[in-house]
Amino acid sequence: QNHPVDGAKRILLASPRGYCAGVDRAVLAVEKALQQYEGPIYVRKEIVHNKHVVSQLTEQGAIFVNEVDEIPEGERVIFSAHGVSPAVVQAAADRGLDAIDATCPLVTKVHREAVRFSRDDYEILLVGHEGHEEVEGTAGHAPDRVTIVNNPHEADTVQVKNPDRLVWLSQTTLSVDEAMETVRRLRARFPNLQDPPSDDICYATQNRQVAIKKVAPEADVVIVVGSANSSNSVRLVEVALEYGAKAAYRVDFSTEIQQEWLEGARTVGISSGASVPEGLVREVLQELEDAGYADVAEVRTAEEDLIFSLPKELRPSRKR
Ligand code: F3S
Repeated sequence: QNHPVDGAKRILLASPRGYCAGVDRAVLAVEKALQQYEGPIYVRKEIVHNKHVVSQLTEQGAIFVNEVDEIPEGERVIFSAHGVSPAVVQAAADRGLDAIDATCPLVTKVHREAVRFSRDDYEILLVGHEGHEEVEGTAGHAPDRVTIVNNPHEADTVQVKNPDRLVWLSQTTLSVDEAMETVRRLRARFPNLQDPPSDDICYATQNRQVAIKKVAPEADVVIVVGSANSSNSVRLVEVALEYGAKAAYRVDFSTEIQQEWLEGARTVGISSGASVPEGLVREVLQELEDAGYADVAEVRTAEEDLIFSLPKELRPSRKR
């Protein structure tokens, strides 16, 4: 890193940050559906966990609901990027809804693992946050076999039926370090615990954490753009603090930045969660530039070029 002249204020902009391939696809799916179909487009749950995105799509006409039973029969629904359990798919079918599934393919991958291990008679320890939509969706794929392990402490007490037929899976947006600690403690108790066939914590979550780990030790304050219910955004704040940022805050919008956060801060680190449009980061940069932070250096730790194709109903070649 180039060290600033004494007293100079600078910004370290973490990269990768912001939109991942799964969010990009899900948001585009709602936009395409609004263009492609006449009649209302309902979305079950927030399509991605970002206030701004949800309010933009609402303005464009999307109707967000909590559950499919709020949707009139025969209408069209999009399932959010976080995924749904088979029970939700069934409930939608029972109402005659036309469902478009915007579940991130990397979440679907975990669903498949849950189904397969359940079929093979495994008990599944799902490392993740109880109540999060993704965890509900994944657990719902193996309802009688999943036990949720919220954190390393719970790893010390969780009870299993057969420690020799046990696998762990995880939510895609956890802190890598904390999840590994949870698994370490599980394995200390259950040495035959099997690993998932491939990483469940997704590339985007991992890359954003690696980038903020590089920025944090040099930062007097880190600002992460992202919503309070965005798991990966909240993890970025925690990781920044663990890796030496003197302070770290999460904001939805640049207007939430408080002047006292910047008092005496020479270096401000910035990142954003996987559901955050870059425009919101630009607004934060503008706000900081107005406060004298004109020198912006990008700290890049990976290149990302993954793109997921749209749900099949919305692909351009398809006849309407
Ligand atoms: Fe998918 Fe990871 Fe984004 S699971 S929605 S690529 S944060």
